[in-house]
Amino acid sequence: MPGMLLGDIVPNFEADSTFGRLKLHDFLGDCWGVLFSHPRDFTPVCTTELGRAAQLSPEFSRRNVKLIALSVDSLEDHHGWSKDILAYNNAESGSEFPFPIIADAGRHLVETLGMLDPEEKDQTGMPLSARCVFVIGPDKKLKLSILYPATTGRNFDEILRVVDSLQLTAHNRVATPVDWRPGDSVMVPPSIPEQEAVALFPAGVYTKDLPSGKKYLRYTAQPNPHQE
Ligand code: BEZ
Repeated sequence: MPGMLLGDIVPNFEADSTFGRLKLHDFLGDCWGVLFSHPRDFTPVCTTELGRAAQLSPEFSRRNVKLIALSVDSLEDHHGWSKDILAYNNAESGSEFPFPIIADAGRHLVETLGMLDPEEKDQTGMPLSARCVFVIGPDKKLKLSILYPATTGRNFDEILRVVDSLQLTAHNRVATPVDWRPGDSVMVPPSIPEQEAVALFPAGVYTKDLPSGKKYLRYTAQPNPHQE
């Protein structure tokens, strides 16, 4: 099954969406993108996921990130289901769903992008889309991908957290450690020699002593985030 590797340019596909006909690169413009697939409309786990994504949509916008959902159902289903999701969120009446949902009833896109789950099939035996997340940079390259099966819902706070890390590390020669949150210390990558690290991080570099004697656990203060 074809798929996408980190660093690949995400194809500039055209598709019908709840926001009208959409051409990926034009829609994203200079923004980052989070393109995420889900198995089916009118299903419980997907409803909770899209509900959470809708709640967090102002946080994604603040980071200059556009959200785009995708599934193998029709546009008509997407429009009907968006109303259910807004109701699940107890959104004010008259609220609009904040981001487009792409219709891929022919499964062309999910197949091209490697988002199908061969283990999860519909009533006719056709595979459904998996819970795939692509984070796309302003250069239209794939920066991160996450792949969950249909039976496990994603955590959209984690997706926001990885966007924070991706945006920080796109502009600074640092790496973020386990469970990093904005404002926490960051790590100096192994590719930066000691002398260069001293010059590069005037806030200082703290190295933790280890039994091996190797000085690879190097921390520094988080650089100021770049305005995306
Ligand atoms: C769900 O969204 O609840 C779901 C969809 C397909 C398979 C399993 C669960």
